[in-house]
Order: sequence, then C-alpha cells, then structure tokens
Amino acid sequence: MSMTKKKAKTQTKKKAVKQKTKKGMVFEYSEAPESMKVEIAKKYENYIGGKFVAPKSGKYFETTNPGTGEVLTKLALSFKEDVDSAVKAARKAFKGEWSELSASERGKYIYRIARLIQERSRELAILETLDGGKPIKESRDVDLPLVAQHFFYNAGWADKLEYVLPGKEVKPVGVCGQIIPWNFPLLMLAWKIAPALACGNTVVLKPAETTSLTALRFAEICTEAGLPAGVVNIVTGAGETGQALVEHKDIDKIAFTGSTEVGKLIAKTAGITHKKLTMELGGKSANIIFADSALDQAIEGVIAGIYFNQGHVCCAGSRVLVEESIKETFLKKLQKRMKQIRVGNPMDKNTDMGAINSKEQLSKIKEMVKLGQGEGGEFWQVDNDLPRKGNYFSPCYFVDQSASCTISREEVFGPVLSITTFRTPEEAIAKANDTNYGLAAGIWSEKGSKVHKVAAGLRAGVIWANTYNKFDATSPFGGFKESGYGREGGRHGLLPYLEVK
Ligand code: NAI
Ligand code: MG
Repeated sequence: MSMTKKKAKTQTKKKAVKQKTKKGMVFEYSEAPESMKVEIAKKYENYIGGKFVAPKSGKYFETTNPGTGEVLTKLALSFKEDVDSAVKAARKAFKGEWSELSASERGKYIYRIARLIQERSRELAILETLDGGKPIKESRDVDLPLVAQHFFYNAGWADKLEYVLPGKEVKPVGVCGQIIPWNFPLLMLAWKIAPALACGNTVVLKPAETTSLTALRFAEICTEAGLPAGVVNIVTGAGETGQALVEHKDIDKIAFTGSTEVGKLIAKTAGITHKKLTMELGGKSANIIFADSALDQAIEGVIAGIYFNQGHVCCAGSRVLVEESIKETFLKKLQKRMKQIRVGNPMDKNTDMGAINSKEQLSKIKEMVKLGQGEGGEFWQVDNDLPRKGNYFSPCYFVDQSASCTISREEVFGPVLSITTFRTPEEAIAKANDTNYGLAAGIWSEKGSKVHKVAAGLRAGVIWANTYNKFDATSPFGGFKESGYGREGGRHGLLPYLEVK
C-alpha cells in the first residue's frame, strides 16, 4: 500500500459524531482543544418579513450530506405565492424603516451582522461542509473569513456612497432578487447581500437547492442583529423558485451566479420585465506556466487552481497551458503532487478534497470524462481508495487534447484538468483566449515584464500572477464574454446596486 493510501485510510476515522434528537439532529465536531455542537432541525421554513414562514403549498424537499449521502433535513419548497410574500415584505421594508435610517445607522447593522458571523463562524463552517461537501478546512479557513470580510468591507461603504461615483447623486435600486449557486453558498450570499444592504436596498435571496442551510442560519443572524423585518428575505427551492423571482413584476434587479445556460434564460426573462441585471457565469480559465517560473510554486498554483473545492469553482484554472520545453518535468511533478491530495470525508480536518456536491453533478463529471476519453489525448487519474458512501471523484487530467475537444472547451465544474503546451508568449495568449468564456487566468513566470505583457493580452476579468484562486473583498470580480457582466466586490461591486440621479 502506498503512502497516500495509508493516509487516506487513517483519515476516514470519524471526527464528527451525530446524534438524533426529537427536534432533529445534533452534530458534534471535535477538533482539539475545542468541540462544537451544531443542531439541524427536522425542517426549515422560508424567512420572510423577519419570521420563519411555512410554504403556502405545504411542500418540502430534502437536502443531503454529499459526504455520506444521508438526508440532513427538509426545506420549504417555494412557489410564486411565497416569492410574492417575500417581495412584498422586501418592498415594505424598502419604502419604510430601512430607507428612513441614516446611512451610518444602516452601516451599524451590517457591522453587527459581520461580527455575529465571526462569532458563529465555526458553526457556520461545519454546517457549510455538512450540507455542501467541501473540506472543513476550506469552509473554516477560506470561506468564513471571506464572508465576514465582505460584510465588514461593505459596512464601511454605507455612509460613504457619495465617493462611489464622486460628483453624482446615488440612490438604492430598490428590491433585489438574488440567486446563488452551491459551490460557495455563504460566500456568494455575502457577495450579494452585503453590497445590496450597504447601498440601501432590500433583498429576496434564493440559495441553491443542495446548500440552503447556511443561508437559513444567516437569517437567524439577521434577526439576532435586530435587522428591520423584510430587509433580508430568504426563500428556498430549485429552478422554478428562481424563475418566479426573475418573473416577479416588483423586483428592480436580479443578481445571478450559476450556469451560463440558466444565465441566458434569466437574461431573456429579465429583459422583458425591465430589470437591472448582473451575471456571474461559467469559465474555462487558462493557467499559463512558463519555463522560467518557480516550478514547484507553479505546481501548487495548478493544484489550487483546479482541485480546490473539488473543482466546483467558476474561475477554476481548468486549462493549463505549459511551455513545451518543460512539459515532461511538469507532468512528473504534477502527478507526484496529485497523489498527495487526500480525498475523503469533508469533516476531517486533514481532507484536501471533499465530496462532489450532488449525485447529479457527479454523474455530469463522469459523463464528461467518459466523453473526453473517447476524444483523443491522454487521460490520467489518481488511484485513490474512495469512501464507499457519498459522492467522490479522484483528481485527474487530460493532456494533449485538441482545442475542439469537450474537456478543452466546456466547463466541467469538477476535479478535471486539461493540459496543453505552447512555445511562445503570443501562442499562449492566443490559446488562452480561444474560449467562449473570459472569467479568469493565471500567469506563472519570474519575469515581470513578461507577466505584464501576457496579462495585457488576455481577455479575462480576473488575472492572477504567480498565485491562483486568491480572493479579497476589496477587489472586483467578474468576467468577459460568456462569463457574464457586472462586477462583484470592491467599489465596482456597489455600482449594480445604485442608481445615478
Ligand atoms: P444552475 O445554474 O442551474 O444553478 C444555479 C442557481 O440557479 C441555483 O440556485 C438554481 O436553483 C437556480 N436556477 C436554476 N434554474 C433557474 C431558472 N430557470 N431561473 C432562475 N434560477 C434558476 O446550475 P446547476 O444546474 O446547479 O449546475 C450545472 C452546471 O452549471 C455545473 O456543472 C457548472 O458547470 C455550472 N455552474 C456554474 C457556477 C458558477 O459559479 N459559474 C455555479 C453553479 C453551476
Ligand atoms: Mg446538501
């Protein structure tokens, strides 16, 4: 048995203990010296007008733990009528209490929310991992600190909006419908709710159907912070619920993050109903490795680029372009490093890659890989002992497939990398830009002038040099071409939530 397999075996030891109670279940997560109990109720309602309200249809749907396949709880299945109640509550708050507050008072609520997120961050991280399958060390050390940072950062803007567009008078847009995906549930909520509130809007948010639990815990935090009723409303459900939000006549703006396919549908509907729109869609981002890069660091950047969060990352560095002269060395080092990735129980603090978010997503990944294997090039996958229960997929790559192949062109949203080579910086730029998407790119070189030259030629919204997948609340994020429009984060992230008078 290899070292990696031994490690994989030892880390499946249970660290989270589950108990069933009358009210639902309690997960006890121990990580010396602390232990934390997280309660999950038997069912969850919508959060409308500051209260938890049962769905009018009386229908519920299940959410599971993708790490084990077990059902965690039931969530309200919302339809038009529930969305309508939420929009009415949001409109009432927008016309009333929320707009009557001074900007600095509004900011205080957002600061309060940020502090409560920090206080409850362990609980939120555990819940995020249980419901969505990402490794606990990512929820705890990457997602939660960023979630709090987005609220702190935007709270600071609330009473400084005159500096967003100096010389212009700005006003909130109104009631905002926000639809988020399952890859960074709480972080996408923060990206959307924090700037919306800072600008004086009210919101109706629909989390993704597989990962709604942290949004509902966030609802509790809003109540705890004393946020006026109706400023934040959360309705749960799937595509139909999202569609009802997009179609609602009294919503002023839709912010969407998700697939390009659904994005196009939303753009059509929102167009007819005259809503403002921002879209953060898919990507097929290039991570360019030059021969003069610090190769071991570049390998770390490739790993972080595609295997972080099981590859469920819109800006994933899913296409590596490596300079031809170092291809063999690169592949040898990459394989060695990939074998060290510990895949397994997301609740284990040593896990590097957790569970694929849903059975559907796992099937999609498998199908695309199978399709890819029939299209030429070489395929390589780490041979891991995967847990028998839950949704797991080992890290893998394709090398030397032509640019027209499925894996080179389409977003897999899984731990699947496409590797090709280039000879000159010009060729690297041309290949990197040969995609319908334009969300992100990475450049690895020790030569500053080369980094700047290549960066200038890339058609992508986010460009990292000698790092990858680094995020910060102060910096705008968003894409070119089919990756969407509008920016989230930084000063630019406020613009879609403001009208210029
Ligand atoms: P999706 O785009 O269907 O889901 C994203 C959100 O949109 C969810 O909250 C969903 O309930 C909602 N939604 C679905 N249909 C809708 C509609 N007609 N109107 C309004 N809202 C709607 O993504 P899905 O099906 O979960 O994943 C499929 C693929 O999409 C993935 O394999 C991946 O390639 C891509 N994706 C990309 C994301 C990104 O951040 N770029 C995030 C999630 C998925
Ligand atoms: Mg779930």
